[in-house]
Amino acid sequence: MNTIIEPFKIKSVEPINFTTREYRERAIREAFYNLFLLKADDVLIDFLTDSGTAAMSSKQWAAIMDGDESYAGSRSFFRFEEVIKELTGFKHIIPTHQGRAAEKILFTVVGGLGKVIPNNTHFDTTRANVEFSGSEAVDLPVAVALDTEKRADFKGNMDLDKLEALIKKTGRENIPLCFLTVTNNSVGGQPVSMSNIRRTKALLNKYDIPLFIDACRFAENAFFIKLREPEYRDRSVRDIAHEMFSYADGCTMSAKKDALVNIGGFLALNDSGLAEKARSLLIMTEGFPTYGGLAGRDLDAIAQGLTEVLDEDYLKYRIRSVEYFGDKLEKAGVPVLVPTGGHAVFLDAHRFLPDIPPENFPGQALSVQLYLEGGIRSVEIGSVMFGKEVDGKFFGAQLELVRLAIPRRVYTQSHIDFAAEVVIEVFRKRNSIPGYKITYEPPFLRHFTAHFEALPIGGRY
Ligand code: F0G
Repeated sequence: MNTIIEPFKIKSVEPINFTTREYRERAIREAFYNLFLLKADDVLIDFLTDSGTAAMSSKQWAAIMDGDESYAGSRSFFRFEEVIKELTGFKHIIPTHQGRAAEKILFTVVGGLGKVIPNNTHFDTTRANVEFSGSEAVDLPVAVALDTEKRADFKGNMDLDKLEALIKKTGRENIPLCFLTVTNNSVGGQPVSMSNIRRTKALLNKYDIPLFIDACRFAENAFFIKLREPEYRDRSVRDIAHEMFSYADGCTMSAKKDALVNIGGFLALNDSGLAEKARSLLIMTEGFPTYGGLAGRDLDAIAQGLTEVLDEDYLKYRIRSVEYFGDKLEKAGVPVLVPTGGHAVFLDAHRFLPDIPPENFPGQALSVQLYLEGGIRSVEIGSVMFGKEVDGKFFGAQLELVRLAIPRRVYTQSHIDFAAEVVIEVFRKRNSIPGYKITYEPPFLRHFTAHFEALPIGGRY
């Protein structure tokens, strides 16, 4: 049998809302053409993010009922700690309410003025937390990562020559640690190979710099290693994940991705001195070290999710269903980033709408159109998010992408088929899509709250 089916049956359902085009035209106008400002009830298929949007299993819901809400020493914490220790091998496991809280604590402890943090590519919250501490965040992706048309197995990798050059230039004493983000979300959910992790660690060892992993999508990364790195073909994904973590000195984790829950995260590390400082901060900002900003029941759901996510039937379905979506679009000639990543399909808005210049936000234009056409919500990752105006001159983002992130275990194949039809229809009508201008923007992170206005077709701002 060739068809890969969803490895679950559905026990509880949640209706989605159908709307007319007229209704959506009004809704998006009232949201100032910013998809973050839409009411979720006005969205038919929500591909805004794969974070915190997973469907939990019946075993996770059962674990929720079994949660122990004791303030200190809760049974749920010990289960959480045991599962994460077994998975990662790290000594200290510190629960946080989500990934960015772990980042905030870690960079408050190790960051500061004059320090530099290298990463294959920082996710926005990671970069924001590094910079907020006064340090500099440096992205060192391999060059091929920026070519959306070039197929390569491990476009998420760290560029090791650039890393060594950075260490030599900056001085080892100014680099408290180095990060690897698996999978590399910001360049298209692309995986990092085991050999790259191993070589990154070897290089850092030479300079005595610790390696941390941003582990949000570690299971998807481990499965890609099994698929694409020949010597891992016969190894279990659990084993591969163990080996990935074995090269690191710690990790931050957003449990909202590969722990298959709606909220949660953790910081895990070996250094006892650092762990003590992190726990002191945790008590001030998150909570007591045996719950850290979560309810006992959340810790139980995470422990169960981390066990389920390594099921290879699940991962096969997960990676294949995202790839299936990407393949359908590619076959129809739609410009997508190839190969498809682990958690999302990324449309290349620059190639999709070549007549809309970066200052008129082709990614925004495309994501608004996907909503108007079929009620699909995506997210722009381009010049709205990363573009800048300096002294009246506009600097666009390196890539103009629209991400269609697939929530875990939520949508079925027919939802994906429908979404592909919508994207293909928008592609067919691509010559009648307007660009946009910003009519309001806040001082930071403008993509969340900016207001837009459509320009006449072919118009410029
Ligand atoms: N690191 C990566 C690679 C991420 O993708 C995210 C979140 C975080 C850290 C922060 O975790 O949200 O739990 O605080 N990514 C989401 C996304 C928001 O849509 O890609 P968090």
